[in-house]
Formats: sequence, structure tokens, C-alpha cells
Amino acid sequence: MKKCMANFSSSIFRQQFPILAQFVNGKPLVYFDNAASTQKPVDVIDCYQHYYQTSNANVHRASHALSSRATTAYEETRQNLKNFIKAKHSKEIIWTKGSTESINLVAQSWGRKNLQPNDEIVLSYSEHHANIVPWQIVAEQTGAKIKILPLTIEGRIDKTRLEETIGEKTRIVCCGHISNVLGRINPIADVIGFAKKYKALTLIDGAQAIAHLPVDVQALDCDFYVFSAHKMYGPTGVGVLYGKREILEKMSPYQAGGEMIKSVSFEQTSFNDLPHKFEAGTPNIAGIVAFGAALKFIEVQQLAALAQYETNLAQYCFAQLSQVPGLCFIVEGQPDIPVFSFTMTGHHNHDVAAELDSQGIAVRAGHHCAMPLMQYLKIDGCIRLSLAAYNSVEEIDKVILALKQMSHQSLANDTAAMTNDELGQLSPQNLQQVGYKASEAVNKIQITDTAHSLNVDSILALFSKAKSWDSKHREIMMLGKKQSSLSAELKTDQSLISGCESKAWLIHQKNEHEYYIFTGDSDAKVIRGLIAVVLAAVNNKNSEQILTFDMQAYFNDIGLLQHLSPSRGNGLRAIVNKIYQIVEE
Ligand SMILES: Cc1ncc(COP(=O)(O)O)c(C=O)c1O
Repeated sequence: MKKCMANFSSSIFRQQFPILAQFVNGKPLVYFDNAASTQKPVDVIDCYQHYYQTSNANVHRASHALSSRATTAYEETRQNLKNFIKAKHSKEIIWTKGSTESINLVAQSWGRKNLQPNDEIVLSYSEHHANIVPWQIVAEQTGAKIKILPLTIEGRIDKTRLEETIGEKTRIVCCGHISNVLGRINPIADVIGFAKKYKALTLIDGAQAIAHLPVDVQALDCDFYVFSAHKMYGPTGVGVLYGKREILEKMSPYQAGGEMIKSVSFEQTSFNDLPHKFEAGTPNIAGIVAFGAALKFIEVQQLAALAQYETNLAQYCFAQLSQVPGLCFIVEGQPDIPVFSFTMTGHHNHDVAAELDSQGIAVRAGHHCAMPLMQYLKIDGCIRLSLAAYNSVEEIDKVILALKQMSHQSLANDTAAMTNDELGQLSPQNLQQVGYKASEAVNKIQITDTAHSLNVDSILALFSKAKSWDSKHREIMMLGKKQSSLSAELKTDQSLISGCESKAWLIHQKNEHEYYIFTGDSDAKVIRGLIAVVLAAVNNKNSEQILTFDMQAYFNDIGLLQHLSPSRGNGLRAIVNKIYQIVEE
């Protein structure tokens, strides 16, 4: 494995990314969330700073030296990008703030004007929400219909079934070059060729492809190609819409304001030429200039060398992941780029991500902005590892070791969990049938629930011993394990805690002294643990005591908030809000 990577030094490449040198949760950072956003090399960071230190001014508008310098650097990037994707004219490159805005631009500018009732927009099952929702909106506005291309069992668009979806009524086919979940290169040349037979336009979402493959928009002959700079070592807030000149010429502006006009009077406005017609307002000049540095960086490193190294990394990672007991890939076979999506038997996706995070390993869990794909594959979500050329075999070995440990732990815990679950599965109704009243039923749940014997002092004592986030996380997971489960009939829309990324529920009872007893549950152990922490502060208290308790200070004392991701922090707030809602009723 290491031998076939001899031409490329990942460690030298990695040194150019200062962020990767840090420790996270006491461990060297392993960043495996590159499909969400790549890290930035020193060249890009320096260029950004240098621009503000030497050249900052608005573009195109002023006749002074700084403006001219800023405009030159800004337009140079457009020219370089034109060469990077082999477009015919730099006028065909429109700056946006990301792939999402690029797709919205086409949907609203081209789609709204050209789509008629019953015209068809063709998407695929593996699209990112950014390539679904803008089309749903324009379909609603115009009466057009959406049709979906099926996938093969390996997760690629099935090129043998194009005729089932693309036909006389198709006006535009919009699909990802590579899915952000599946990491498979779609047969887009076939899709584009097929769409042309019916004179349908094509939009390719290249957000995941652009950092991994050479892209030649003229050879592809697509009508639109979109991507974001931040997924290719460039800054956030910069995106690209490539469109064929003759099509862009006929499209109306998407947004209106300065820069996109030739002349304005209260009677009439005439629009600017391409590309400025689509670039209303002051653009992200510093970002675009720094994106120029990212393009040069990729050129110097050579995309082909990066891609070769990544292919080898993908082979190695796939072989290793395949040996983790209980790991199930969501589609068959090895991905084309190092993007791996899977579930772990006996573990909630968020628990796996949280456990890896406690070891300094950044991965993503959830639906990955591809909910229709999750529905198509009949899963709730998955864990995604996405690698870049600065990742190494040693980092893969670390994640494999962590996953194997999790998998062994879950086998060892199976019996104990069953006993606990059996007890927790007793619903109040079931308990009533065997002679308990509702309040006794909740007491029964409380008795079986070790977490309920906790109070603020015991929680603070527990966490004061856990100094690092790693050990705090372990305590949360232990609390989660000890918390008994709610039976299915108690998991209703009413008991659902909205705002939690993983599903979570809360039920309550009041005793004769008006003291509350809450019981909660979640699909994810980490959330169950957080519920236990919150409940320790509110159980066996009346509404006044609950509402006056300083929850924020409690969380700070435990040292929770500074470590929880915004989504999990929001989950914690959602649990607290649900409790306040109940006691304020
Ligand atoms: C395939 C795909 N399309 C579109 C997007 C949206 O990109 P952005 O958020 O940069 O607009 C993403 C982001 O993850 C993506 O992976």
C-alpha cells in the first residue's frame, strides 16, 4: 500500500495545512469530514490576509489603484478557473456563494421562465438537498413535475434505465457528478448524451467531484456545472456556476442591484453583459482572490497525483472497514473516491460519531443532506468518513481500531442491555394490567432507572473526576447506557422532543406533592446520557424549583457546553425547553 504511494508524500502535503497539527480532545486531530469542507493550505490563508493588507477595495467601480489591483486579482481568478474546468469563455464563469446558490440561480432564472405545466425535471435518488429543493420550488411555481433516476446496487445512476425517466417531456436533467454520501462517479457522459436526444438541458452538481477529478466542461458538453470553493481547499462563501454562454445570454438576472446593470433610470434598466449580469452587489472579493490561490495550489500539487493517492487510500480504507465486525456499508462495493458511508450494528450513528470525536476523529453522522437517498435505501442515516490527500494510512488505522473496539464492546454488553431493556419496556398500561396504578408505573420506571437516583451533586461529583472531554464523554455514554428505555407506545408525537438531531422522548408524572418525575429516552446513547444529566437537575422538584434552577451554570460546572457540537448543544437545549414547556403548562 505505502509502496504504490511512493510518488506522493502525504506528510509533506499535510504540513501545508496548519489546522491539522492540533490536538482535539487530547488526541492528534484526524479530520475525516472533507466531503463537508476541506481544510485550507497556508497559501490560501496567506493570500486572504495579503489581499486585505495590500489590495482591499471594491471591484470594477472605482478608478483608483487599489480598486484596479483588486479587480485584476478578482478577474484573474475567473480566467484561471475558466482554464481549470476548460470552459470556452471566462464569461461563462459566474461567481456565487456556493453550489447551493448556483443551483438556485439556474432554477429561478432559467427554470421559472422556461418550465411549463407538465414539463419534467429529472433528478436522481442520490442528490444533495441543494439539488432537490430548488427544483421542487420551481416545479411548484410552474406546474412542472419531478422525475427520479434510479440507482444501481453500487449506488451509481443506472445508465441502463435512463429511458424510464428521461423522455419527450424532460426539459432539464440535474444530477450529481459524485454523491456526497456514496462517493461513486455517476455515468454523467451517458446521462448528458441521453438528455441531448430529447433536447433537454443538463446541470451537473460537481460539488464532490471537483476536488477529486479533472473536469472538462466542454468535453462533457453539459449546459451547467456547479461547485463550491470550500470543498477544494478554497475559502467558504465562494461558488461557481459554469453555464454555456448562449444559454446564459438568454437567461434573466437572478438578483438585482449594483454591478449587474448597464444603466438605470426610473423608467427602465438595462442589464450588464455576462458574467456581471448575474453578480449583483459586492461579491466576496477576498474569497475569490484566495480561491485563485487554491487553484494554483492544486495545480502545483497536480490533481492527478492527489487523485492517485486518494484512490490508494480508498482501497486501503475499504479493505480495513470491511473487516470491522458489525459494520454495514449502505451500498455494495468500493467507492470511487474515499467517501465511505455505513452503519454499525447495535450502535446509533450519532453515538459512533461522538465516540470517535472524543478520540479526536472528526466524522459525520446523520442524513448528510440527502434524506430522499436515506428513504430510498431504507435507513435513518449513516456514518460517513470522507478523506482527502492529507489523510494517511495511520489515521485510517486509528479509526479502524476505534470502530473495532466499539464493535467488541457492543457484543460484550448485549446481555446486560437486554435485562435493562426488558425492565424499561414495561409501559404504564402493561404495568396497570399487572396491578399498578399510573403513578406507580412511573415509579416502577424510576426504580429500574439507575439514572433517576442521580441528583445535581452526584452528577457534579461524577464529572469533576472526569477532566478531559474523552472521560466526560465516557461518563455521558455510561449514563446513557444505564437509563432505561421507554416502551414504543410512550414514544408518541406528544412526548417527542423537537429540535433534537436524534429522536428523543420525554414523559412525566407529578406526585401528590406536585413534584415532577420525568423519564426520557433516545435512539442515541449520547442523547440518553444528556437526558440523564438534565433529569438529575429537575426530578423530584416542583415547577418553581425547576424554573429557578440555573441550568446554564450547571452545564458550565459540568463542562458540557464548551465541548458539545452546536447540534448536540441544541439537543441539550431542546430537552431543557421541553421540560420548561411542561412545567409552565
Ligand atoms: C453534492 C453536493 N451538492 C451540493 C452541496 C452544497 O454545497 P454548498 O453548501 O457549498 O452550497 C454539497 C455540500 O455538501 C454537496 O455535497
